[in-house]
Amino acid sequence: MATTTTGLVPNWYPPTGENYDFLLYLWQWFPLMASLQWLISWYGMGKTSVSSPLNFPGRIGWLTMECPGFLSLLYMLSTLPQQYNITDLPWQNKVLAALFVIHYAYRAIIFPLIQPSMSPLHLFVWLSGLGFQLFNGTLLGSWLAAYGPTTQAAWREQLSFGVLQFTCGIALFYVGLAANYYHDDELREIRRRQARQQTAKGREAGGGGGGKSVEKHYEIPQAGLFKIMLYPHYFVEWVEWAGFYMACGWGCVPARMFVINEVAAMLPRAVKGKQWYMQKFGREKIEKKWAVIPGIW
Ligand SMILES: NC(=O)c1ccc[n+]([C@@H]2O[C@H](COP(=O)([O-])OP(=O)(O)OC[C@H]3O[C@@H](n4cnc5c(N)ncnc54)[C@H](OP(=O)(O)O)[C@@H]3O)[C@@H](O)[C@H]2O)c1
Repeated sequence: MATTTTGLVPNWYPPTGENYDFLLYLWQWFPLMASLQWLISWYGMGKTSVSSPLNFPGRIGWLTMECPGFLSLLYMLSTLPQQYNITDLPWQNKVLAALFVIHYAYRAIIFPLIQPSMSPLHLFVWLSGLGFQLFNGTLLGSWLAAYGPTTQAAWREQLSFGVLQFTCGIALFYVGLAANYYHDDELREIRRRQARQQTAKGREAGGGGGGKSVEKHYEIPQAGLFKIMLYPHYFVEWVEWAGFYMACGWGCVPARMFVINEVAAMLPRAVKGKQWYMQKFGREKIEKKWAVIPGIW
């Protein structure tokens, strides 16, 4: 067993090979925990958030919950290769790490800054999200830095269809990333439009134009895939990470668990979100739309 006396938490962060295997084993049980959402009606975030002394303000909560994921991945890449005397990682590892960081530069930093408003986040949701990020970033980062393929020969074994599989996976990743941004932006546009209308009304009424807050202003989104479903931004994010998994190779357990655990965490939210939309806007306007997987849910 390779032991390490260095690192933020020796032997664990970054993990030794044995501890990596143990963390990966634990990570495979995450869907069980996430499926509790089917049984519990409380969810302290977004549409269903309520005031609580344990709430974080939305933007700060989101930023601090999401950043540890990509920071962990970068930390693994900056520590593990040295410990295993890997002098230069293959270009595939670098490309995959860069894609992960590109996604999280948007999701963790830009997203909370450009949202017109974000509902508060309960401490419990924050802790679950933080746990998700730490596990995911550490395991994917460890795989990319040392425990996955670290030579071109290993990559040839990893991908049944070689560079073609890698390229198709990355193309799918980018389609998902762009579609995720597009549908996130449709939700932003609802509040930006509402803010513009409030400003115009304020001006007409002779005020200075400073409108009311747009916090918790909800409408039925209409653009793109929102025409047929309520959570296309979730669906296309799964497509994005399925593309990433394809590029890593079907044997990459951390990438497979990322897709499975995202679906396990987000599917109940989307299905319950459809109930929320029906209660708010009326069954007749919503029931014909899918929640999140066209043709299934
Ligand atoms: N939630 C997760 O577990 C999770 C996991 C991985 C990735 N993501 C990704 O992170 C992004 C955000 O996820 P989320 O769960 O926060 O999504 P969400 O509940 O749909 O909310 C996204 C943002 O849009 C606003 N919003 C939602 N519905 C709206 C509507 N009908 N009209 C106007 N504004 C609306 C929300 O405001 P309020 O905050 O005020 O409700 C929030 O700021 C998505 O792209 C998702 O794919 C989420």
